[in-house]
Amino acid sequence: MSLQTKIDTIIKSVGSINIQDFVELSNFDKISGFYNKPNIEKIGKSGQFITSPEISSLFSIAITNQFLKEFPEVKNVNLFELGPGNGLLSMDIYYYLKSKNINVNDVTLFEKSDYFIEKISEKSEVKVNFIKNLYDYKIDNEDLVFIYSNEFFDAIGSKQFIYNNGNFNEIKISKNNDEYLLIKDSTIISKELLNYYSSYKFKDNDILEHSNLILNILSDIQKLECKKYFFTTTDYGYTKLPFKSTLRLLSNHKKLNLFDKFENVDYSFGVNFELLNNFFLKNNPSIIYQKDLILNNLPIEYLKSSDKNIREMIDLISGKKFGSMGTSFLNLSFKKNE
Ligand SMILES: C[S@@+](CC[C@H](N)C(=O)[O-])C[C@H]1O[C@@H](n2cnc3c(N)ncnc32)[C@H](O)[C@@H]1O
Repeated sequence: MSLQTKIDTIIKSVGSINIQDFVELSNFDKISGFYNKPNIEKIGKSGQFITSPEISSLFSIAITNQFLKEFPEVKNVNLFELGPGNGLLSMDIYYYLKSKNINVNDVTLFEKSDYFIEKISEKSEVKVNFIKNLYDYKIDNEDLVFIYSNEFFDAIGSKQFIYNNGNFNEIKISKNNDEYLLIKDSTIISKELLNYYSSYKFKDNDILEHSNLILNILSDIQKLECKKYFFTTTDYGYTKLPFKSTLRLLSNHKKLNLFDKFENVDYSFGVNFELLNNFFLKNNPSIIYQKDLILNNLPIEYLKSSDKNIREMIDLISGKKFGSMGTSFLNLSFKKNE
């Protein structure tokens, strides 16, 4: 059954589908969801969109040096990536650490897509473990863990709400005379949202995105039983609510509008870094632009290089790749050392 037929069937039976469920189904349906569908390239030049680890290993080097600045004496480390996609970031980090004579005990990848699990398993020369639930991550809690992700949180579904007359209504997708349309439905969590975002003053028609899926992942990370870790995450996002939809549809490296087409489309949202920051507040996280992540952590020989290719890669991963979204690529990191 095609994705569109599945969505239409849900709308027919219950009247509508909310944005979070629509995106989760479109991205992760076992058969036709973007991240599971076999035989189509997803991430990379010949995929639907490209990410920094796919552009250059320099991105992985910068992330690893960010970690090494915090744990300069490390001799043994466990790698743990959230949402590895094709797995390039973890492989590059592994080999970069090896080149510095740092031993990698274990590589664990938190990945929901069977397509990527199969792809990495086939290609990887390094033994990797996959988990689909964060609470399945088992590690000796004396071990040091390096936890990282790139464009992971933006792939996770979010609900959308619209503010009117002191209340939030949820935005849902319905269909009328064969035309898709967005409708507003009352929600029992309106008060909870007003409370949660009480530092904001909403105006009529402001849009709020809120993902209980992200909150669940953050709370699972917080519960990880390791005493020493470094966490770094890079994503497209914002530090103050934008009051508008950040939902992006990409196919064949081009932006689409909702309902233009249903198959081979990647759906993502801007990530709320303020929420991430507040979640890990007691760990004193720091938020920087991706540009500064690269410029502060690449070895000087790359930054000063006159090699045209290296210069071009640095430009791309520190902003050019993102065009007008350049300054919105952010990185949050913190160290836990109990
Ligand atoms: C936009 S891709 C980024 C892939 C890779 N990190 C990169 O930069 O090229 C998002 C990745 O997160 C994974 N992912 C999204 N939601 C997930 C979830 N709830 N659990 C595990 N993996 C998830 C996707 O399958 C995919 O591998």
